[in-house]
Amino acid sequence: MLDVSQIAKTYPTPRGPLSILSGVSFSLQRGDAAAIMGPSGAGKSTLLYILGGLEQPTSGTVALDGRNPYALSEKDLAAFRNQAIGFIFQDHCLLPQCSVLENVLVPTLVSAPSRSRLGTEQRARDLLAQVGLSDRLDHRPAELSGGEKQRVALARALICKPLLLLCDEPTGNLDQASADVVASLLLELHRRQETILIVVTHSAELAARFPLRYELRNANLYPVSA
Ligand SMILES: Nc1ncnc2c1ncn2[C@@H]1O[C@H](COP(=O)(O)OP(=O)(O)O)[C@@H](O)[C@H]1O
Ligand SMILES: [Mg+2]
Repeated sequence: MLDVSQIAKTYPTPRGPLSILSGVSFSLQRGDAAAIMGPSGAGKSTLLYILGGLEQPTSGTVALDGRNPYALSEKDLAAFRNQAIGFIFQDHCLLPQCSVLENVLVPTLVSAPSRSRLGTEQRARDLLAQVGLSDRLDHRPAELSGGEKQRVALARALICKPLLLLCDEPTGNLDQASADVVASLLLELHRRQETILIVVTHSAELAARFPLRYELRNANLYPVSA
């Protein structure tokens, strides 16, 4: 499970410390799917980065299956992120010179021993089939639509079977039809793989599809009732 306790984040600025998050606490179990909404600048991305082991909180603790990423060495933290956490950003962040299949395999280059390479490639093909891209394996990112790029990003985020899948406005740059497709695939693959899914979104429509909803405002997280 994901257990977040009393997270605070303060940035030093010339005009004194700037408090972005203050006392954020919540817990999610494997299989939970939560949407986080809130105004621009509220600290949503900051919170996701803290949960994902990318940004150390000023105080408070994060525990994913009992492991606190910020108690790990640099090397162990990198391995932990690679194995336990999948990230999807608003911009797909695919490598332009690599094919669709290669992009999905990139996270496995650091972790998978070479003897499991064949199994890993099969898993990448399976994931790409699940997001409907079996006939795009050799395309470069520039040869894909925005929605297709996000579907590749989804397959890449899941290739190492993460426990925690973090998405920062994953449909923010897509038209409505593509956004619906990406959102449906995201929720379906989350259910199949039983991740803990957290999605930051501005879209009330997307948030409404999540069983758990929170709003981030005034530096804290509040449950939104149905
Ligand atoms: N490195 C930093 N130093 C100072 N302020 C920052 C830094 N990173 C983000 N902020 C500020 O933190 C606030 C929250 O940012 P962010 O988490 O990106 O918000 P959101 O994703 O909700 O739009 C913003 O006001 C931003 O200016
Ligand atoms: Mg943001």
